[in-house]
Amino acid sequence: METQQSKAKQADAAADADLAKAIMARRFHPSVIGPEAWEGYIFSDLEIRIKESTDLYGAVLWPSAMVLCHFLETNRDRYNLTDKNVIELGAGTGLVTIVSSLLGAKVTSTDLPEVLGNLQYNVMCNTKGRCKYIPLVTELTWGQQVEQRFPSATHCFDYILAADVVYAHPYLDELMYTFDHLCQDNTKIFWAMRFRLDPENSFVDRFRQHFHLEELYDLPSLSIKLYQAWRKDKKCTDQGEAAA
Ligand SMILES: C[S@@+](CC[C@H](N)C(=O)[O-])C[C@H]1O[C@@H](n2cnc3c(N)ncnc32)[C@H](O)[C@@H]1O
Repeated sequence: METQQSKAKQADAAADADLAKAIMARRFHPSVIGPEAWEGYIFSDLEIRIKESTDLYGAVLWPSAMVLCHFLETNRDRYNLTDKNVIELGAGTGLVTIVSSLLGAKVTSTDLPEVLGNLQYNVMCNTKGRCKYIPLVTELTWGQQVEQRFPSATHCFDYILAADVVYAHPYLDELMYTFDHLCQDNTKIFWAMRFRLDPENSFVDRFRQHFHLEELYDLPSLSIKLYQAWRKDKKCTDQGEAAA
């Protein structure tokens, strides 16, 4: 019995290592250092160049974004993004927005105002002439004017995408409100969660109170899980802005 358990553990660890290796292999570094620093990624057989800057959280590309992109690309038959309405929360440097656009989605890419310049730059450079729909880059500060800017009556998203949006920041209630507002009865959420410290990790349990949550990937070596989620209750009335 014990041997069976330890064999199963070994198999899980090997699967984790293989998947993490395949995901991290998507990244490459420029062979020649030019005037502008960038990191390269290969998705949809295309080279994607991402410019980072080290002074902001949103200006750095986090591994969760690669996990989510790998899933979207390798499950494109199961979850076909072609012509789908997609919104990304906390898009950062834009890899997830770029890959979903390359996969055919109409993407609204959102983040804090100070992040949008770099995000727009990366999105334009990597989607122009390559995608059916050019992504819309726009501000969405969680919990602020969400109904005014994205009225439920006119903004129905098929997918909400989010990579590494839960960490030690004071806006977890606002983030929950934003998921709740944007997620309609037929919306699916794909959310890559990097596990760090307990106070933020408990967001997963709170999230589970509002949404059905299914684990798609478990990558202990990266401390990342990928979830899909959908509403538990039918949405009937808007609940107002976050109590922030
Ligand atoms: C850890 S980064 C992840 C960035 C990107 N998704 C990735 O995985 O590379 C967290 C992102 O959430 C954004 N963010 C943090 N607080 C926010 C808020 N209150 N409203 C909107 N976006 C926020 C940050 O600007 C940043 O882009």
